[in-house]
Amino acid sequence: MREGICIVGGKLQGMEAAYLAGKAGYEVMLIDKAPEPPAAALADEFYRMDVLKDLEATKTAFRRAAAVLPALEDEAALATIVRASRKAGVPCMHDEGAFLKTSRKDAFSELCRVWGLPQPARYPMAKFPMIVKPVVGSGSRGVALVRNRAEMQNAVGEDSSKWMIQECVNGIFLSLELLGMNGEAMPFQVTCLEFDETYGCKRVLAPSGIGDGIRDRIEEIGDKLVKGLDLKGVTDLQVALRSDNSSLDVIEANARLPSQTPTVVFHSAGENLVALLADIFINSRLPKINKHQEKGVIYQHLLFGDGTVRVAAEHNIAHATGLRIETNFHGADEAITNLPQEGSAKGYVATLIIVDSDLSRAKIRMEEATESLCEHYKVFRNEERSPFGMTRVYDKIEKR
Ligand SMILES: Nc1ncnc2c1ncn2[C@@H]1O[C@H](COP(=O)(O)OP(=O)(O)O)[C@@H](O)[C@H]1O
Ligand SMILES: [Mg+2]
Repeated sequence: MREGICIVGGKLQGMEAAYLAGKAGYEVMLIDKAPEPPAAALADEFYRMDVLKDLEATKTAFRRAAAVLPALEDEAALATIVRASRKAGVPCMHDEGAFLKTSRKDAFSELCRVWGLPQPARYPMAKFPMIVKPVVGSGSRGVALVRNRAEMQNAVGEDSSKWMIQECVNGIFLSLELLGMNGEAMPFQVTCLEFDETYGCKRVLAPSGIGDGIRDRIEEIGDKLVKGLDLKGVTDLQVALRSDNSSLDVIEANARLPSQTPTVVFHSAGENLVALLADIFINSRLPKINKHQEKGVIYQHLLFGDGTVRVAAEHNIAHATGLRIETNFHGADEAITNLPQEGSAKGYVATLIIVDSDLSRAKIRMEEATESLCEHYKVFRNEERSPFGMTRVYDKIEKR
Protein backbone atom coordinates (compact mmCIF):
# COMPACT_ATOMS: atom_id res chain seq x y z
CA MET A 1 0.00 0.00 0.00
CA ARG A 2 1.16 3.54 -0.70
CA GLU A 3 2.13 5.74 2.23
CA GLY A 4 -0.50 8.32 3.04
CA ILE A 5 -0.41 11.98 3.94
CA CYS A 6 -3.36 13.19 5.99
CA ILE A 7 -4.19 16.80 5.17
CA VAL A 8 -6.44 18.76 7.51
CA GLY A 9 -8.28 21.63 5.81
CA GLY A 10 -9.59 21.51 2.27
CA LYS A 11 -9.54 25.09 1.04
CA LEU A 12 -6.72 26.79 -0.90
CA GLN A 13 -3.82 25.53 1.19
CA GLY A 14 -5.43 22.09 1.27
CA MET A 15 -5.74 22.08 -2.52
CA GLU A 16 -2.07 22.87 -2.81
CA ALA A 17 -1.18 20.13 -0.33
CA ALA A 18 -3.41 17.54 -2.01
CA TYR A 19 -2.21 18.42 -5.51
CA LEU A 20 1.48 18.09 -4.60
CA ALA A 21 1.09 15.09 -2.28
CA GLY A 22 -0.69 13.31 -5.14
CA LYS A 23 2.07 14.26 -7.59
CA ALA A 24 4.62 12.88 -5.11
CA GLY A 25 2.85 9.53 -5.19
CA TYR A 26 1.32 9.67 -1.72
CA GLU A 27 -2.14 8.40 -0.92
CA VAL A 28 -3.98 11.65 -0.19
CA MET A 29 -6.29 11.68 2.83
CA LEU A 30 -8.27 14.82 3.55
CA ILE A 31 -10.13 15.89 6.70
CA ASP A 32 -12.51 18.84 6.70
CA LYS A 33 -15.66 19.74 8.61
CA ALA A 34 -17.32 21.11 5.46
CA PRO A 35 -19.28 18.65 3.30
CA GLU A 36 -17.65 19.44 -0.03
CA PRO A 37 -14.38 21.38 0.36
CA PRO A 38 -12.59 22.23 -2.92
CA ALA A 39 -9.61 19.96 -2.13
CA ALA A 40 -11.84 16.88 -1.83
CA ALA A 41 -11.66 16.49 -5.60
CA LEU A 42 -7.88 16.06 -5.39
CA ALA A 43 -7.93 13.58 -2.50
CA ASP A 44 -8.14 9.78 -2.59
CA GLU A 45 -10.11 9.65 0.65
CA PHE A 46 -12.21 12.33 2.29
CA TYR A 47 -13.27 12.28 5.94
CA ARG A 48 -15.86 14.79 6.91
CA MET A 49 -15.18 15.61 10.54
CA ASP A 50 -14.29 18.42 12.90
CA VAL A 51 -10.90 17.83 14.54
CA LEU A 52 -12.01 19.89 17.55
CA LYS A 53 -15.06 17.69 18.13
CA ASP A 54 -14.17 14.29 16.68
CA LEU A 55 -10.84 13.77 18.40
CA GLU A 56 -10.86 9.97 18.48
CA ALA A 57 -11.80 9.64 14.81
CA THR A 58 -9.10 12.19 13.97
CA LYS A 59 -6.45 10.16 15.76
CA THR A 60 -7.65 6.99 14.02
CA ALA A 61 -7.29 8.68 10.63
CA PHE A 62 -3.86 10.08 11.57
CA ARG A 63 -2.60 6.61 12.55
CA ARG A 64 -3.22 5.40 9.00
CA ALA A 65 -0.93 8.09 7.57
CA ALA A 66 2.85 8.46 7.38
CA ALA A 67 2.50 12.16 8.26
CA VAL A 68 -0.10 14.83 8.98
CA LEU A 69 -0.13 18.12 7.09
CA PRO A 70 -2.26 20.92 8.55
CA ALA A 71 -3.64 23.23 5.87
CA LEU A 72 -5.53 25.78 7.94
CA GLU A 73 -4.70 28.81 10.07
CA ASP A 74 -7.08 28.53 13.02
CA GLU A 75 -4.86 28.46 16.10
CA ALA A 76 -7.16 26.24 18.20
CA ALA A 77 -7.49 23.70 15.38
CA LEU A 78 -3.72 23.75 14.78
CA ALA A 79 -2.97 23.12 18.46
CA THR A 80 -5.42 20.20 18.46
CA ILE A 81 -3.91 18.72 15.30
CA VAL A 82 -0.40 18.94 16.75
CA ARG A 83 -1.52 17.24 19.98
CA ALA A 84 -3.60 14.57 18.23
CA SER A 85 -0.77 13.63 15.90
CA ARG A 86 1.64 13.39 18.84
CA LYS A 87 -0.78 11.03 20.60
CA ALA A 88 -1.22 9.04 17.40
CA GLY A 89 2.56 8.77 17.06
CA VAL A 90 2.56 10.32 13.57
CA PRO A 91 4.76 13.31 12.60
CA CYS A 92 2.91 16.58 12.09
CA MET A 93 4.48 18.79 9.40
CA HIS A 94 3.95 22.04 11.24
CA ASP A 95 6.17 24.28 13.37
CA GLU A 96 3.83 25.86 15.93
CA GLY A 97 6.45 28.23 17.35
CA ALA A 98 7.53 29.54 13.95
CA PHE A 99 3.94 29.83 12.78
CA LEU A 100 2.99 31.96 15.78
CA LYS A 101 5.99 34.25 15.21
CA THR A 102 4.74 35.03 11.69
CA SER A 103 0.99 35.10 12.24
CA ARG A 104 0.65 38.59 13.75
CA LYS A 105 1.88 41.26 11.35
CA ASP A 106 2.90 43.76 14.04
CA ALA A 107 4.85 41.21 16.09
CA PHE A 108 6.50 39.85 12.94
CA SER A 109 7.48 43.35 11.84
CA GLU A 110 9.17 43.82 15.22
CA LEU A 111 11.09 40.56 14.70
CA CYS A 112 12.18 41.73 11.24
CA ARG A 113 13.56 44.87 12.85
CA VAL A 114 15.50 42.81 15.41
CA TRP A 115 16.82 40.46 12.70
CA GLY A 116 17.83 43.41 10.52
CA LEU A 117 15.49 42.59 7.63
CA PRO A 118 14.42 45.47 5.36
CA GLN A 119 10.74 46.41 5.46
CA PRO A 120 8.51 49.29 4.32
CA ALA A 121 8.40 52.31 6.64
CA ARG A 122 5.54 52.13 9.14
CA TYR A 123 3.03 54.73 10.22
CA PRO A 124 3.62 57.38 11.58
CA MET A 125 7.04 57.50 9.84
CA ALA A 126 5.67 56.47 6.43
CA LYS A 127 4.36 58.91 3.86
CA PHE A 128 1.12 58.58 1.87
CA PRO A 129 0.05 56.55 -0.06
CA MET A 130 0.04 53.79 2.54
CA ILE A 131 -1.29 50.26 2.78
CA VAL A 132 -3.47 49.24 5.69
CA LYS A 133 -3.91 45.58 6.60
CA PRO A 134 -5.39 43.83 9.63
CA VAL A 135 -2.72 42.72 12.12
CA VAL A 136 -4.33 39.28 12.14
CA GLY A 137 -5.54 37.85 8.86
CA SER A 138 -4.45 36.44 5.55
CA GLY A 139 -5.48 36.10 1.94
CA SER A 140 -5.44 39.91 1.54
CA ARG A 141 -8.65 40.30 3.56
CA GLY A 142 -9.10 43.93 4.60
CA VAL A 143 -6.03 45.16 2.71
CA ALA A 144 -6.51 48.64 1.24
CA LEU A 145 -4.62 51.56 -0.18
CA VAL A 146 -5.09 54.88 1.60
CA ARG A 147 -3.98 58.11 -0.01
CA ASN A 148 -4.59 60.60 2.79
CA ARG A 149 -5.53 60.93 6.44
CA ALA A 150 -9.28 60.89 5.78
CA GLU A 151 -9.06 57.63 3.82
CA MET A 152 -6.89 56.13 6.53
CA GLN A 153 -9.34 57.04 9.25
CA ASN A 154 -12.17 55.70 7.16
CA ALA A 155 -10.36 52.38 6.69
CA VAL A 156 -9.06 51.75 10.21
CA GLY A 157 -11.47 53.72 12.40
CA GLU A 158 -10.35 55.13 15.75
CA ASP A 159 -8.34 52.14 16.95
CA SER A 160 -5.28 51.81 14.72
CA SER A 161 -3.70 49.15 16.98
CA LYS A 162 -5.48 46.37 15.09
CA TRP A 163 -3.90 47.52 11.83
CA MET A 164 -0.55 47.32 10.18
CA ILE A 165 -0.10 50.62 8.38
CA GLN A 166 2.91 50.96 6.13
CA GLU A 167 4.31 52.69 3.09
CA CYS A 168 2.86 51.44 -0.20
CA VAL A 169 5.73 49.97 -2.18
CA ASN A 170 5.71 50.25 -5.97
CA GLY A 171 7.31 47.48 -7.94
CA ILE A 172 7.43 43.73 -8.46
CA PHE A 173 6.16 41.32 -5.82
CA LEU A 174 8.11 38.13 -5.39
CA SER A 175 7.72 34.98 -3.34
CA LEU A 176 10.33 32.56 -2.03
CA GLU A 177 9.57 29.33 -0.22
CA LEU A 178 12.15 27.86 2.12
CA LEU A 179 12.56 24.70 4.13
CA GLY A 180 14.41 24.85 7.41
CA MET A 181 15.88 22.40 9.88
CA ASN A 182 18.49 22.71 12.65
CA GLY A 183 19.30 26.30 11.70
CA GLU A 184 19.87 25.50 8.04
CA ALA A 185 17.78 26.95 5.22
CA MET A 186 16.98 25.48 1.84
CA PRO A 187 15.54 28.01 -0.63
CA PHE A 188 13.32 27.04 -3.55
CA GLN A 189 12.79 29.09 -6.70
CA VAL A 190 11.71 32.75 -6.61
CA THR A 191 8.31 33.28 -8.27
CA CYS A 192 6.53 36.44 -9.29
CA LEU A 193 3.07 37.40 -8.00
CA GLU A 194 0.33 39.51 -9.59
CA PHE A 195 -2.73 40.87 -7.83
CA ASP A 196 -6.18 42.15 -8.67
CA GLU A 197 -7.42 45.55 -7.52
CA THR A 198 -8.38 44.14 -4.09
CA TYR A 199 -4.82 42.85 -3.57
CA GLY A 200 -5.88 39.21 -4.02
CA CYS A 201 -3.30 37.13 -5.90
CA LYS A 202 -4.58 36.40 -9.40
CA ARG A 203 -1.50 35.06 -11.19
CA VAL A 204 1.87 33.48 -10.43
CA LEU A 205 4.76 33.35 -12.89
CA ALA A 206 8.15 31.68 -13.07
CA PRO A 207 10.96 32.25 -13.70
CA SER A 208 10.88 35.71 -12.18
CA GLY A 209 13.61 37.17 -14.39
CA ILE A 210 15.22 39.04 -11.49
CA GLY A 211 18.85 38.08 -12.06
CA ASP A 212 21.31 36.31 -9.79
CA GLY A 213 22.29 39.32 -7.67
CA ILE A 214 18.77 40.08 -6.52
CA ARG A 215 17.99 36.40 -6.06
CA ASP A 216 21.02 36.07 -3.80
CA ARG A 217 19.80 39.01 -1.72
CA ILE A 218 16.34 37.48 -1.36
CA GLU A 219 17.87 34.13 -0.37
CA GLU A 220 19.99 35.94 2.21
CA ILE A 221 16.84 37.46 3.73
CA GLY A 222 15.27 33.98 3.64
CA ASP A 223 18.28 32.52 5.44
CA LYS A 224 18.01 35.09 8.23
CA LEU A 225 14.27 34.45 8.45
CA VAL A 226 14.70 30.67 8.80
CA LYS A 227 17.40 31.11 11.45
CA GLY A 228 15.37 33.73 13.33
CA LEU A 229 12.31 31.47 13.35
CA ASP A 230 14.46 28.44 14.21
CA LEU A 231 12.26 26.81 11.62
CA LYS A 232 11.59 23.12 11.28
CA GLY A 233 9.46 22.87 8.18
CA VAL A 234 8.32 25.39 5.59
CA THR A 235 7.87 29.13 5.36
CA ASP A 236 7.11 31.49 2.57
CA LEU A 237 8.60 34.94 2.26
CA GLN A 238 7.07 37.71 0.19
CA VAL A 239 9.25 40.63 -0.82
CA ALA A 240 8.73 43.69 -2.98
CA LEU A 241 11.45 44.80 -5.36
CA ARG A 242 11.09 48.54 -5.93
CA SER A 243 10.50 49.72 -9.50
CA ASP A 244 13.96 51.27 -9.71
CA ASN A 245 15.54 47.98 -8.49
CA SER A 246 16.92 49.99 -5.59
CA SER A 247 15.84 47.88 -2.67
CA LEU A 248 13.94 44.89 -1.38
CA ASP A 249 11.35 45.02 1.38
CA VAL A 250 9.83 42.17 3.32
CA ILE A 251 6.05 42.29 2.89
CA GLU A 252 5.24 39.22 4.94
CA ALA A 253 6.15 35.66 5.80
CA ASN A 254 4.01 32.73 6.89
CA ALA A 255 5.54 29.62 8.40
CA ARG A 256 3.14 27.18 6.81
CA LEU A 257 2.48 25.65 3.41
CA PRO A 258 1.43 28.48 1.09
CA SER A 259 -0.92 28.09 -1.85
CA GLN A 260 -0.20 28.55 -5.58
CA THR A 261 3.56 29.19 -5.55
CA PRO A 262 4.60 25.58 -4.72
CA THR A 263 2.65 24.30 -7.73
CA VAL A 264 4.41 26.82 -9.95
CA VAL A 265 7.81 25.86 -8.53
CA PHE A 266 6.92 22.21 -9.13
CA HIS A 267 6.23 22.82 -12.81
CA SER A 268 9.05 25.29 -13.41
CA ALA A 269 11.95 23.92 -11.37
CA GLY A 270 10.70 20.37 -10.83
CA GLU A 271 10.84 20.49 -7.02
CA ASN A 272 7.92 19.10 -5.02
CA LEU A 273 7.75 21.07 -1.79
CA VAL A 274 5.36 18.64 -0.08
CA ALA A 275 7.57 15.64 -0.90
CA LEU A 276 10.64 17.45 0.43
CA LEU A 277 8.78 18.69 3.51
CA ALA A 278 7.87 15.08 4.24
CA ASP A 279 11.58 14.25 4.08
CA ILE A 280 12.22 16.55 7.02
CA PHE A 281 9.52 15.09 9.20
CA ILE A 282 9.49 11.43 8.15
CA ASN A 283 13.18 10.90 7.38
CA SER A 284 14.69 13.66 9.58
CA ARG A 285 16.81 15.12 6.83
CA LEU A 286 16.94 18.49 5.14
CA PRO A 287 16.78 17.65 1.44
CA LYS A 288 19.18 19.14 -1.07
CA ILE A 289 17.76 20.93 -4.04
CA ASN A 290 19.60 20.91 -7.30
CA LYS A 291 19.08 24.02 -9.38
CA HIS A 292 17.45 22.92 -12.61
CA GLN A 293 16.76 24.66 -15.84
CA GLU A 294 13.67 26.77 -15.17
CA LYS A 295 10.68 26.31 -17.44
CA GLY A 296 8.27 29.14 -18.14
CA VAL A 297 5.11 28.70 -16.07
CA ILE A 298 1.98 30.84 -15.87
CA TYR A 299 -0.70 29.97 -13.36
CA GLN A 300 -3.85 32.05 -13.32
CA HIS A 301 -7.43 31.99 -12.09
CA LEU A 302 -10.41 32.74 -14.29
CA LEU A 303 -13.81 33.62 -12.91
CA PHE A 304 -16.85 33.44 -15.20
CA GLY A 305 -19.70 35.91 -14.80
CA ASP A 306 -22.78 36.76 -16.80
CA GLY A 307 -21.41 36.62 -20.35
CA THR A 308 -17.95 37.59 -19.12
CA VAL A 309 -14.70 36.14 -17.85
CA ARG A 310 -11.90 37.82 -15.95
CA VAL A 311 -8.59 36.96 -14.39
CA ALA A 312 -9.55 36.97 -10.72
CA ALA A 313 -7.99 36.54 -7.29
CA GLU A 314 -7.55 33.12 -5.78
CA HIS A 315 -10.09 33.69 -3.00
CA ASN A 316 -12.77 33.42 -5.67
CA ILE A 317 -12.08 29.70 -5.93
CA ALA A 318 -11.96 29.07 -2.18
CA HIS A 319 -15.69 28.33 -2.18
CA ALA A 320 -15.91 26.50 -5.48
CA THR A 321 -17.48 23.06 -5.39
CA GLY A 322 -17.22 20.13 -7.79
CA LEU A 323 -13.67 20.89 -8.91
CA ARG A 324 -11.76 18.41 -11.05
CA ILE A 325 -8.32 18.33 -12.64
CA GLU A 326 -8.26 18.36 -16.44
CA THR A 327 -5.24 17.96 -18.67
CA ASN A 328 -4.96 19.63 -22.05
CA PHE A 329 -7.92 21.85 -21.26
CA HIS A 330 -8.48 24.30 -24.11
CA GLY A 331 -4.73 24.19 -24.67
CA ALA A 332 -3.74 24.62 -21.02
CA ASP A 333 -1.49 21.83 -19.73
CA GLU A 334 -3.62 21.49 -16.63
CA ALA A 335 -6.75 23.10 -15.29
CA ILE A 336 -8.48 22.86 -11.95
CA THR A 337 -12.05 23.67 -12.82
CA ASN A 338 -15.73 23.03 -12.24
CA LEU A 339 -16.85 24.31 -15.66
CA PRO A 340 -19.56 22.23 -17.30
CA GLN A 341 -18.61 20.76 -20.67
CA GLU A 342 -21.34 22.80 -22.39
CA GLY A 343 -23.81 25.55 -21.55
CA SER A 344 -23.53 28.63 -19.40
CA ALA A 345 -20.25 29.19 -17.56
CA LYS A 346 -21.71 31.74 -15.16
CA GLY A 347 -20.42 31.34 -11.62
CA TYR A 348 -17.82 28.70 -12.54
CA VAL A 349 -14.04 28.94 -12.18
CA ALA A 350 -10.92 27.62 -13.87
CA THR A 351 -7.32 27.76 -12.72
CA LEU A 352 -5.12 27.35 -15.78
CA ILE A 353 -1.52 26.11 -15.67
CA ILE A 354 0.68 26.51 -18.73
CA VAL A 355 4.20 25.14 -18.86
CA ASP A 356 6.54 25.87 -21.75
CA SER A 357 10.20 26.43 -22.53
CA ASP A 358 9.99 30.11 -21.57
CA LEU A 359 7.48 32.73 -20.42
CA SER A 360 7.07 34.21 -23.85
CA ARG A 361 5.74 30.94 -25.27
CA ALA A 362 3.70 30.29 -22.13
CA LYS A 363 2.01 33.68 -22.53
CA ILE A 364 1.08 33.04 -26.15
CA ARG A 365 -0.54 29.76 -25.11
CA MET A 366 -2.28 31.35 -22.10
CA GLU A 367 -3.84 33.94 -24.40
CA GLU A 368 -4.92 31.20 -26.81
CA ALA A 369 -6.42 29.07 -24.04
CA THR A 370 -8.34 32.04 -22.64
CA GLU A 371 -9.54 32.91 -26.15
CA SER A 372 -10.68 29.33 -26.71
CA LEU A 373 -12.69 29.40 -23.47
CA CYS A 374 -14.27 32.71 -24.50
CA GLU A 375 -15.39 31.21 -27.79
CA HIS A 376 -16.60 27.94 -26.30
CA TYR A 377 -18.66 29.54 -23.52
CA LYS A 378 -19.57 32.64 -25.55
CA VAL A 379 -18.18 35.13 -23.05
CA PHE A 380 -16.22 38.38 -23.33
CA ARG A 381 -12.98 38.92 -21.51
CA ASN A 382 -13.09 41.78 -19.03
CA GLU A 383 -10.10 44.02 -18.78
CA GLU A 384 -7.74 43.22 -15.92
CA ARG A 385 -7.18 45.63 -13.11
CA SER A 386 -4.10 45.89 -10.91
CA PRO A 387 -3.31 47.68 -7.68
CA PHE A 388 -1.86 51.18 -7.78
CA GLY A 389 1.85 51.24 -8.52
CA MET A 390 2.39 47.54 -9.12
CA THR A 391 4.42 46.44 -12.11
CA ARG A 392 2.31 44.46 -14.57
CA VAL A 393 4.72 41.64 -15.21
CA TYR A 394 2.47 39.57 -17.48
CA ASP A 395 1.75 42.54 -19.75
CA LYS A 396 5.46 43.11 -20.14
CA ILE A 397 6.26 39.59 -21.35
CA GLU A 398 7.20 40.03 -24.96
CA LYS A 399 5.67 37.72 -27.51
CA ARG A 400 8.47 36.31 -29.58
N1 LIG B 1 3.55 47.80 1.79
C1 LIG B 1 2.87 47.36 0.73
N2 LIG B 1 2.95 48.02 -0.45
C2 LIG B 1 2.25 47.61 -1.52
N3 LIG B 1 1.45 46.54 -1.51
C3 LIG B 1 1.34 45.83 -0.35
C4 LIG B 1 2.03 46.21 0.82
N4 LIG B 1 1.70 45.34 1.80
C5 LIG B 1 0.85 44.46 1.26
N5 LIG B 1 0.62 44.74 -0.04
C6 LIG B 1 -0.25 44.00 -0.96
O1 LIG B 1 -1.27 43.37 -0.21
C7 LIG B 1 -1.17 41.94 -0.29
C8 LIG B 1 -1.57 41.33 1.02
O2 LIG B 1 -0.73 41.77 2.05
P1 LIG B 1 0.00 40.71 2.99
O3 LIG B 1 0.90 41.46 3.90
O4 LIG B 1 0.62 39.65 2.18
O5 LIG B 1 -1.21 40.17 3.85
P2 LIG B 1 -2.06 38.80 3.80
O6 LIG B 1 -1.69 38.12 5.07
O7 LIG B 1 -3.47 39.22 3.75
O8 LIG B 1 -1.62 38.00 2.60
C9 LIG B 1 0.28 41.71 -0.70
O9 LIG B 1 0.43 40.47 -1.33
C10 LIG B 1 0.51 42.88 -1.63
O10 LIG B 1 -0.11 42.65 -2.88
MG1 LIG C 1 0.11 37.65 1.66
